[in-house]
Amino acid sequence: MKVLVTGGAGYIGSVVAEELLQAGHAVVVIDNLSRGHRQAVPLDAELAVGDLADRALLDRLLRERSIDAVIHFAAFIEAGESMKAPETFFRNNTANALTLLEAMLASGVKRIVFSSTAALYGDPEHTPIEEDDPLRPANAYGESKLLVERMLAWFHRIHGLRYASLRYFNAAGASRPDRGEAHQPETHLIPRILAVVLGRAAQVNIFGTDYPTADGTCVRDYIHVSDLAHAHLLALDALAGLREKGLPEEGLRKKGLREDSPPLIYNLGNGQGFSVREVVEVARQVTGHPIPAIECPRRPGDPAVLIASSQKIRRELGWQPRFPELKTIVESAWEWHRTHAEGYANPATDASRRK
Ligand code: UFG
Repeated sequence: MKVLVTGGAGYIGSVVAEELLQAGHAVVVIDNLSRGHRQAVPLDAELAVGDLADRALLDRLLRERSIDAVIHFAAFIEAGESMKAPETFFRNNTANALTLLEAMLASGVKRIVFSSTAALYGDPEHTPIEEDDPLRPANAYGESKLLVERMLAWFHRIHGLRYASLRYFNAAGASRPDRGEAHQPETHLIPRILAVVLGRAAQVNIFGTDYPTADGTCVRDYIHVSDLAHAHLLALDALAGLREKGLPEEGLRKKGLREDSPPLIYNLGNGQGFSVREVVEVARQVTGHPIPAIECPRRPGDPAVLIASSQKIRRELGWQPRFPELKTIVESAWEWHRTHAEGYANPATDASRRK
């Protein structure tokens, strides 16, 4: 299959691009490099540097490269930032997704896997969260993604677009020691903790210690980026009907994978929650560093607890996490940060990289 990966120079997109290539697919990455890194794009992928707002570029790529399917990552992701400048999230995440969908429609590309988020659920009524639980985002980031899910549903209904929406919980870890998380600015908990170990920050700020949780800090479900990436390949295969090859019609119908099947909407997490304090403690064990932490006020827009039920994707697509342990996740992140303190800025050690 020939796959257009938007945001393929980013943290998760670049891992998926690599997995797609390994599975024998051809990959075209479109990324404006505002957050992504040229060096993160696998050498065997084509890189088109450009913006999703550029409809002419999208038309050209979709048609000239004979794209079969799109995996759409490109977006701003910092929930906290979205509470300061929501307009940038609605422009980049929502409006640009519409441009992409219009271009797909015009080019007859009918399949898309969308990077959605646990932030759709807001403060959930119960945990673990299931896919048909109420969608009430607590931050503008979550709303910007929910609007895309709503557009996808209408495009499915009216234009027959086939889509999978993967609602990520907290992506973390590194797929290889030389491919990892390098956001600028970095707002995520695990890299910020490891920055302290590297001497780049004096202490970790714990945002909020008065949440209704066992130790008063927010609880999240951390998922290894490779496990997340693998789900995209399963979803893509499911959209193409490939995984069910050989299954009789009846089997296909039971699994909801017919041509006229409903969209595939899945949570992706490990079903286990860790508080901010617990994550800091695991990082202390992994790195052997004391990691000073100070208590700070809450960060606006943070739900207290986000834990996924991923039973649906396990049941329907056979997804299974290979690295569910938080310690393994933090170890892999540490391996990347320890050896790439500057992120991708100093790729001299990574000879196989795109320069
Ligand atoms: N936190 C701190 N100190 C920090 C950074 C984070 O205490 O320096 C806390 C946050 O307040 C939050 C938790 O650690 O309670 C996790 O925060 P992250 O910023 O790492 O992740 P979020 O849960 O805010 O958001 C992430 C992704 C979103 C996704 C969400 C799904 O950035 O895209 O997970 O759960 F939607």
